[in-house]
Amino acid sequence: MIYSRIIGTGGYLPEKVLTNQDLEKFVDTSDQWIQERTGIKQRHIAGENETTCDLAEQAARRAMEAAEKGARDIDLIVLATTTPDQIFPSTACLLQSRLDIHGCAAFDVQAVCTGFVYALAVADNFIRAGSATCALVVGAETFSRILNWKDRGTCVLFGDGAGAVVLEASREPGILSTHLHADGDYAKLLHVPDGVSQGYDQVQRERAFVEMRGNEVFKMAVNTLGRIVDETLLHNGLEKSDVDWLIPHQANFRIIRGIARKLQLPLERVVVTVAEHGNTSAASVPLAFDAAVRDGRIKRGETLLMEAFGGGFTWGSALIKY
Ligand code: ACO
Repeated sequence: MIYSRIIGTGGYLPEKVLTNQDLEKFVDTSDQWIQERTGIKQRHIAGENETTCDLAEQAARRAMEAAEKGARDIDLIVLATTTPDQIFPSTACLLQSRLDIHGCAAFDVQAVCTGFVYALAVADNFIRAGSATCALVVGAETFSRILNWKDRGTCVLFGDGAGAVVLEASREPGILSTHLHADGDYAKLLHVPDGVSQGYDQVQRERAFVEMRGNEVFKMAVNTLGRIVDETLLHNGLEKSDVDWLIPHQANFRIIRGIARKLQLPLERVVVTVAEHGNTSAASVPLAFDAAVRDGRIKRGETLLMEAFGGGFTWGSALIKY
Protein backbone atom coordinates (compact mmCIF):
# COMPACT_ATOMS: atom_id res chain seq x y z
CA MET A 1 0.00 0.00 0.00
CA ILE A 2 1.36 3.41 -1.00
CA TYR A 3 0.64 6.49 1.09
CA SER A 4 1.65 10.07 0.62
CA ARG A 5 3.58 11.59 3.51
CA ILE A 6 4.05 15.27 4.18
CA ILE A 7 7.81 15.79 4.25
CA GLY A 8 8.02 19.58 4.26
CA THR A 9 5.91 22.66 4.86
CA GLY A 10 6.29 26.34 3.99
CA GLY A 11 4.36 29.56 4.39
CA TYR A 12 4.60 33.14 3.29
CA LEU A 13 2.75 36.30 4.28
CA PRO A 14 3.20 39.64 2.51
CA GLU A 15 4.96 42.34 4.52
CA LYS A 16 2.15 44.85 4.69
CA VAL A 17 -0.13 44.45 7.71
CA LEU A 18 -3.60 45.97 7.84
CA THR A 19 -4.95 46.17 11.40
CA ASN A 20 -8.55 46.56 12.51
CA GLN A 21 -7.63 50.09 13.59
CA ASP A 22 -6.44 50.82 10.03
CA LEU A 23 -9.81 49.59 8.71
CA GLU A 24 -11.70 51.82 11.15
CA LYS A 25 -10.27 54.79 9.26
CA PHE A 26 -12.01 54.05 5.97
CA VAL A 27 -14.91 51.68 6.64
CA ASP A 28 -17.77 51.88 9.14
CA THR A 29 -16.52 49.21 11.55
CA SER A 30 -14.68 48.85 14.85
CA ASP A 31 -11.87 46.77 16.23
CA GLN A 32 -14.26 45.58 18.93
CA TRP A 33 -16.90 44.36 16.43
CA ILE A 34 -14.34 42.55 14.27
CA GLN A 35 -12.65 40.86 17.23
CA GLU A 36 -15.90 39.87 18.95
CA ARG A 37 -17.57 38.48 15.82
CA THR A 38 -14.55 36.94 14.07
CA GLY A 39 -11.46 36.87 16.31
CA ILE A 40 -9.48 38.76 13.66
CA LYS A 41 -7.02 41.48 14.76
CA GLN A 42 -5.04 42.02 11.57
CA ARG A 43 -4.39 40.61 8.11
CA HIS A 44 -1.56 40.79 5.58
CA ILE A 45 -2.09 42.49 2.23
CA ALA A 46 -0.02 41.88 -0.92
CA GLY A 47 1.99 44.81 -2.24
CA GLU A 48 0.80 46.64 -5.33
CA ASN A 49 2.91 44.54 -7.71
CA GLU A 50 2.90 41.35 -5.65
CA THR A 51 0.87 38.53 -7.19
CA THR A 52 -0.47 35.17 -6.06
CA CYS A 53 2.44 33.46 -7.84
CA ASP A 54 4.94 35.65 -5.95
CA LEU A 55 3.46 34.51 -2.63
CA ALA A 56 3.21 30.89 -3.82
CA GLU A 57 6.87 30.91 -4.89
CA GLN A 58 8.10 31.93 -1.42
CA ALA A 59 5.94 29.32 0.34
CA ALA A 60 6.93 26.61 -2.16
CA ARG A 61 10.65 27.33 -1.82
CA ARG A 62 10.37 27.09 1.97
CA ALA A 63 8.44 23.80 1.77
CA MET A 64 10.97 22.32 -0.68
CA GLU A 65 13.85 23.43 1.52
CA ALA A 66 12.22 21.85 4.59
CA ALA A 67 11.63 18.66 2.58
CA GLU A 68 15.21 18.75 1.24
CA LYS A 69 13.87 18.41 -2.28
CA GLY A 70 15.09 20.19 -5.39
CA ALA A 71 13.40 21.13 -8.66
CA ARG A 72 14.25 17.76 -10.24
CA ASP A 73 12.52 15.79 -7.49
CA ILE A 74 9.07 17.34 -7.99
CA ASP A 75 6.87 15.44 -10.45
CA LEU A 76 3.49 17.09 -9.78
CA ILE A 77 2.34 20.61 -8.89
CA VAL A 78 -1.21 21.25 -7.71
CA LEU A 79 -2.00 24.83 -6.75
CA ALA A 80 -5.24 25.99 -5.17
CA THR A 81 -6.29 29.57 -5.79
CA THR A 82 -9.32 31.72 -6.46
CA THR A 83 -7.16 34.67 -7.41
CA PRO A 84 -4.85 33.51 -10.23
CA ASP A 85 -2.26 35.88 -11.73
CA GLN A 86 -3.71 35.47 -15.21
CA ILE A 87 -6.71 33.87 -16.90
CA PHE A 88 -4.13 31.48 -18.33
CA PRO A 89 -1.59 29.93 -17.99
CA SER A 90 -2.52 28.49 -14.64
CA THR A 91 -0.68 29.89 -11.62
CA ALA A 92 0.70 26.35 -11.15
CA CYS A 93 2.44 26.61 -14.56
CA LEU A 94 3.76 30.09 -13.74
CA LEU A 95 5.08 28.72 -10.44
CA GLN A 96 6.61 25.71 -12.19
CA SER A 97 8.69 28.01 -14.39
CA ARG A 98 9.77 30.18 -11.44
CA LEU A 99 11.01 27.08 -9.63
CA ASP A 100 12.85 25.83 -12.72
CA ILE A 101 10.77 22.65 -12.74
CA HIS A 102 10.09 21.26 -16.21
CA GLY A 103 7.83 18.67 -17.78
CA CYS A 104 5.71 17.42 -14.87
CA ALA A 105 1.95 18.00 -14.66
CA ALA A 106 1.02 21.36 -13.13
CA PHE A 107 -2.50 22.68 -12.72
CA ASP A 108 -4.75 24.85 -10.59
CA VAL A 109 -7.65 23.74 -8.43
CA GLN A 110 -10.49 26.14 -7.63
CA ALA A 111 -12.54 25.42 -4.53
CA VAL A 112 -12.22 28.83 -2.81
CA CYS A 113 -11.53 28.34 0.93
CA THR A 114 -11.57 24.55 0.58
CA GLY A 115 -8.99 24.79 -2.22
CA PHE A 116 -6.00 23.48 -0.30
CA VAL A 117 -7.87 20.43 1.00
CA TYR A 118 -9.05 19.73 -2.56
CA ALA A 119 -5.48 20.13 -3.90
CA LEU A 120 -4.10 17.88 -1.17
CA ALA A 121 -6.70 15.21 -1.99
CA VAL A 122 -5.88 15.38 -5.72
CA ALA A 123 -2.13 15.06 -5.11
CA ASP A 124 -2.68 12.26 -2.58
CA ASN A 125 -4.73 10.33 -5.13
CA PHE A 126 -2.05 10.82 -7.81
CA ILE A 127 0.55 9.40 -5.43
CA ARG A 128 -1.64 6.50 -4.26
CA ALA A 129 -2.33 5.63 -7.92
CA GLY A 130 1.39 5.62 -8.70
CA SER A 131 1.07 8.61 -11.07
CA ALA A 132 3.40 10.82 -9.03
CA THR A 133 6.07 10.27 -6.38
CA CYS A 134 6.82 13.75 -5.09
CA ALA A 135 4.17 16.47 -5.24
CA LEU A 136 4.23 20.15 -4.46
CA VAL A 137 0.82 21.26 -3.15
CA VAL A 138 0.19 24.98 -2.70
CA GLY A 139 -2.65 27.19 -1.50
CA ALA A 140 -2.08 30.83 -2.46
CA GLU A 141 -4.31 33.88 -2.60
CA THR A 142 -4.36 37.62 -3.11
CA PHE A 143 -7.97 37.76 -1.93
CA SER A 144 -7.61 41.49 -1.21
CA ARG A 145 -7.90 42.02 -4.99
CA ILE A 146 -11.50 40.78 -5.07
CA LEU A 147 -12.72 42.67 -2.00
CA ASN A 148 -15.07 45.61 -2.09
CA TRP A 149 -13.37 47.87 0.45
CA LYS A 150 -16.68 49.67 0.98
CA ASP A 151 -18.47 46.49 2.08
CA ARG A 152 -17.82 46.10 5.82
CA GLY A 153 -19.54 42.70 5.78
CA THR A 154 -16.68 41.18 3.75
CA CYS A 155 -13.61 43.43 3.56
CA VAL A 156 -12.71 43.04 7.24
CA LEU A 157 -12.58 39.24 6.97
CA PHE A 158 -9.93 38.37 4.40
CA GLY A 159 -6.18 38.59 3.91
CA ASP A 160 -3.44 37.45 1.51
CA GLY A 161 -0.84 34.69 1.87
CA ALA A 162 0.43 31.32 0.70
CA GLY A 163 1.16 27.93 2.22
CA ALA A 164 2.69 24.80 0.72
CA VAL A 165 3.56 21.21 1.46
CA VAL A 166 5.70 18.60 -0.27
CA LEU A 167 4.21 15.10 -0.40
CA GLU A 168 6.26 11.98 -1.04
CA ALA A 169 5.21 8.40 -1.78
CA SER A 170 5.86 6.16 1.21
CA ARG A 171 5.03 2.74 2.58
CA GLU A 172 4.38 4.42 5.94
CA PRO A 173 1.16 6.40 6.53
CA GLY A 174 0.74 9.26 5.60
CA ILE A 175 -2.46 10.89 4.60
CA LEU A 176 -5.02 8.41 5.95
CA SER A 177 -8.05 9.74 4.09
CA THR A 178 -9.45 12.80 2.35
CA HIS A 179 -13.13 13.70 2.02
CA LEU A 180 -14.38 16.22 -0.54
CA HIS A 181 -17.89 17.59 -1.03
CA ALA A 182 -19.68 20.37 -2.88
CA ASP A 183 -23.21 21.66 -3.43
CA GLY A 184 -23.57 24.26 -6.17
CA ASP A 185 -27.14 25.10 -5.13
CA TYR A 186 -25.65 27.47 -2.55
CA ALA A 187 -23.50 29.40 -5.02
CA LYS A 188 -25.24 32.70 -4.49
CA LEU A 189 -24.73 32.85 -0.73
CA LEU A 190 -21.00 33.38 -1.26
CA HIS A 191 -19.68 34.37 -4.67
CA VAL A 192 -18.02 36.83 -7.01
CA PRO A 193 -20.83 37.29 -9.53
CA ASP A 194 -18.62 38.42 -12.41
CA GLY A 195 -16.55 36.17 -14.68
CA VAL A 196 -14.71 35.79 -17.96
CA SER A 197 -17.49 34.03 -19.83
CA GLN A 198 -20.03 36.65 -18.80
CA GLY A 199 -17.99 39.30 -20.59
CA TYR A 200 -15.74 40.40 -17.78
CA ASP A 201 -14.05 43.66 -18.73
CA GLN A 202 -12.69 46.80 -17.14
CA VAL A 203 -16.09 48.55 -17.29
CA GLN A 204 -17.59 45.76 -15.18
CA ARG A 205 -14.83 45.94 -12.54
CA GLU A 206 -17.26 47.27 -9.94
CA ARG A 207 -18.93 43.86 -9.87
CA ALA A 208 -15.87 41.64 -9.54
CA PHE A 209 -16.00 41.49 -5.77
CA VAL A 210 -16.86 38.95 -3.11
CA GLU A 211 -20.49 39.03 -2.01
CA MET A 212 -21.53 37.01 1.02
CA ARG A 213 -24.66 36.46 3.09
CA GLY A 214 -22.45 35.98 6.14
CA ASN A 215 -25.01 34.82 8.64
CA GLU A 216 -26.42 32.09 6.39
CA VAL A 217 -22.91 30.98 5.42
CA PHE A 218 -21.95 30.86 9.10
CA LYS A 219 -24.79 28.47 10.00
CA MET A 220 -24.07 26.20 7.02
CA ALA A 221 -20.35 26.17 7.81
CA VAL A 222 -20.88 25.10 11.44
CA ASN A 223 -23.33 22.31 10.54
CA THR A 224 -21.38 21.06 7.54
CA LEU A 225 -18.00 21.02 9.26
CA GLY A 226 -19.54 19.18 12.21
CA ARG A 227 -20.79 16.50 9.81
CA ILE A 228 -17.49 16.12 7.98
CA VAL A 229 -15.61 15.65 11.24
CA ASP A 230 -17.94 12.72 12.06
CA GLU A 231 -17.58 11.31 8.53
CA THR A 232 -13.78 11.45 8.70
CA LEU A 233 -13.50 9.76 12.09
CA LEU A 234 -16.05 7.08 11.18
CA HIS A 235 -14.25 6.30 7.90
CA ASN A 236 -11.02 5.70 9.81
CA GLY A 237 -12.61 3.89 12.76
CA LEU A 238 -11.22 6.52 15.12
CA GLU A 239 -12.59 8.29 18.20
CA LYS A 240 -12.52 12.03 18.82
CA SER A 241 -9.81 11.43 21.42
CA ASP A 242 -7.51 9.99 18.72
CA VAL A 243 -7.10 13.42 17.12
CA ASP A 244 -4.01 15.25 18.39
CA TRP A 245 -4.43 18.46 16.41
CA LEU A 246 -7.22 20.24 14.60
CA ILE A 247 -5.98 22.44 11.75
CA PRO A 248 -9.13 24.24 10.65
CA HIS A 249 -9.81 26.73 7.91
CA GLN A 250 -9.37 30.14 9.51
CA ALA A 251 -12.59 32.00 8.65
CA ASN A 252 -13.97 32.85 12.05
CA PHE A 253 -12.82 31.99 15.57
CA ARG A 254 -16.41 31.24 16.60
CA ILE A 255 -16.66 28.52 13.92
CA ILE A 256 -13.27 27.10 14.93
CA ARG A 257 -14.27 27.01 18.62
CA GLY A 258 -17.54 25.26 17.72
CA ILE A 259 -15.71 22.46 15.91
CA ALA A 260 -13.13 22.13 18.71
CA ARG A 261 -15.99 21.76 21.22
CA LYS A 262 -17.60 19.10 19.05
CA LEU A 263 -14.30 17.20 19.03
CA GLN A 264 -13.90 17.81 22.79
CA LEU A 265 -10.46 19.14 21.97
CA PRO A 266 -9.02 21.85 24.23
CA LEU A 267 -8.13 25.01 22.30
CA GLU A 268 -4.44 24.32 23.00
CA ARG A 269 -4.75 21.42 20.50
CA VAL A 270 -6.24 23.64 17.79
CA VAL A 271 -4.01 25.66 15.48
CA VAL A 272 -5.48 29.16 15.37
CA THR A 273 -3.97 31.86 13.17
CA VAL A 274 -7.14 33.78 12.33
CA ALA A 275 -6.24 36.66 14.68
CA GLU A 276 -3.05 37.45 12.77
CA HIS A 277 -3.85 36.21 9.24
CA GLY A 278 -7.60 36.74 8.82
CA ASN A 279 -9.18 34.42 6.26
CA THR A 280 -6.60 33.75 3.53
CA SER A 281 -8.96 31.35 1.69
CA ALA A 282 -6.97 28.49 0.07
CA ALA A 283 -3.83 29.55 1.97
CA SER A 284 -5.31 29.40 5.45
CA VAL A 285 -4.96 25.69 6.28
CA PRO A 286 -1.38 25.25 4.96
CA LEU A 287 -0.30 28.54 6.60
CA ALA A 288 -1.67 27.39 9.96
CA PHE A 289 -0.11 23.95 9.50
CA ASP A 290 3.29 25.43 8.66
CA ALA A 291 3.19 27.76 11.67
CA ALA A 292 2.54 24.88 14.09
CA VAL A 293 5.15 22.61 12.48
CA ARG A 294 7.83 25.31 12.58
CA ASP A 295 7.22 26.35 16.18
CA GLY A 296 7.42 22.69 17.25
CA ARG A 297 3.81 22.22 18.39
CA ILE A 298 3.02 19.52 15.81
CA LYS A 299 5.32 16.52 16.07
CA ARG A 300 5.99 13.47 13.91
CA GLY A 301 3.61 10.59 14.59
CA GLU A 302 0.71 12.80 15.68
CA THR A 303 -2.75 12.57 14.12
CA LEU A 304 -3.95 15.73 12.42
CA LEU A 305 -7.40 16.68 11.23
CA MET A 306 -7.67 19.40 8.59
CA GLU A 307 -11.06 20.79 7.58
CA ALA A 308 -12.34 23.65 5.43
CA PHE A 309 -15.53 25.19 4.10
CA GLY A 310 -15.90 27.74 1.33
CA GLY A 311 -17.64 29.16 -1.70
CA GLY A 312 -19.45 26.72 -3.95
CA PHE A 313 -20.33 25.59 -1.37
CA THR A 314 -17.36 23.30 -1.06
CA TRP A 315 -16.13 21.51 2.03
CA GLY A 316 -13.55 18.89 2.81
CA SER A 317 -11.25 17.27 5.33
CA ALA A 318 -8.02 15.31 5.54
CA LEU A 319 -6.90 12.98 8.30
CA ILE A 320 -3.13 12.72 8.48
CA LYS A 321 -0.60 10.68 10.41
CA TYR A 322 2.21 13.23 10.46
N1 ACO B 1 -18.39 46.15 11.43
C1 ACO B 1 -19.47 46.53 12.15
N2 ACO B 1 -20.70 46.00 11.95
C2 ACO B 1 -20.84 45.07 10.99
C3 ACO B 1 -19.76 44.64 10.21
C4 ACO B 1 -18.50 45.22 10.45
N3 ACO B 1 -17.40 44.87 9.76
N4 ACO B 1 -20.19 43.71 9.34
C5 ACO B 1 -21.50 43.55 9.57
N5 ACO B 1 -21.90 44.38 10.56
C6 ACO B 1 -23.23 44.54 11.14
C7 ACO B 1 -24.32 44.16 10.17
O1 ACO B 1 -24.63 45.26 9.33
C8 ACO B 1 -25.44 43.81 11.10
O2 ACO B 1 -26.05 45.00 11.55
P1 ACO B 1 -27.65 45.12 11.73
O3 ACO B 1 -27.98 44.09 12.78
O4 ACO B 1 -27.84 46.52 12.14
O5 ACO B 1 -28.21 44.76 10.38
C9 ACO B 1 -24.75 43.20 12.32
O6 ACO B 1 -23.38 43.64 12.23
C10 ACO B 1 -24.80 41.69 12.35
O7 ACO B 1 -24.43 41.19 11.05
P2 ACO B 1 -24.33 39.66 10.77
O8 ACO B 1 -23.89 39.44 9.36
O9 ACO B 1 -25.57 38.97 11.23
O10 ACO B 1 -23.12 39.27 11.77
P3 ACO B 1 -22.55 37.87 12.15
O11 ACO B 1 -22.51 37.73 13.60
O12 ACO B 1 -23.17 36.75 11.34
O13 ACO B 1 -21.02 37.98 11.66
C11 ACO B 1 -19.65 37.26 9.82
C12 ACO B 1 -20.74 38.22 10.30
C13 ACO B 1 -18.40 37.54 10.62
C14 ACO B 1 -19.40 37.49 8.35
C15 ACO B 1 -20.10 35.80 10.06
O14 ACO B 1 -21.40 35.63 9.60
C16 ACO B 1 -19.22 34.78 9.40
O15 ACO B 1 -18.09 34.53 9.81
N6 ACO B 1 -19.74 34.05 8.38
C17 ACO B 1 -19.08 32.90 7.79
C18 ACO B 1 -17.89 33.23 6.95
C19 ACO B 1 -17.34 31.96 6.34
O16 ACO B 1 -17.10 30.98 7.02
N7 ACO B 1 -17.16 31.94 5.04
C20 ACO B 1 -16.75 30.72 4.37
C21 ACO B 1 -15.38 30.77 3.93
S1 ACO B 1 -15.04 32.21 2.97
C22 ACO B 1 -14.80 31.72 1.31
O17 ACO B 1 -14.96 30.62 0.90
C23 ACO B 1 -14.45 32.83 0.34
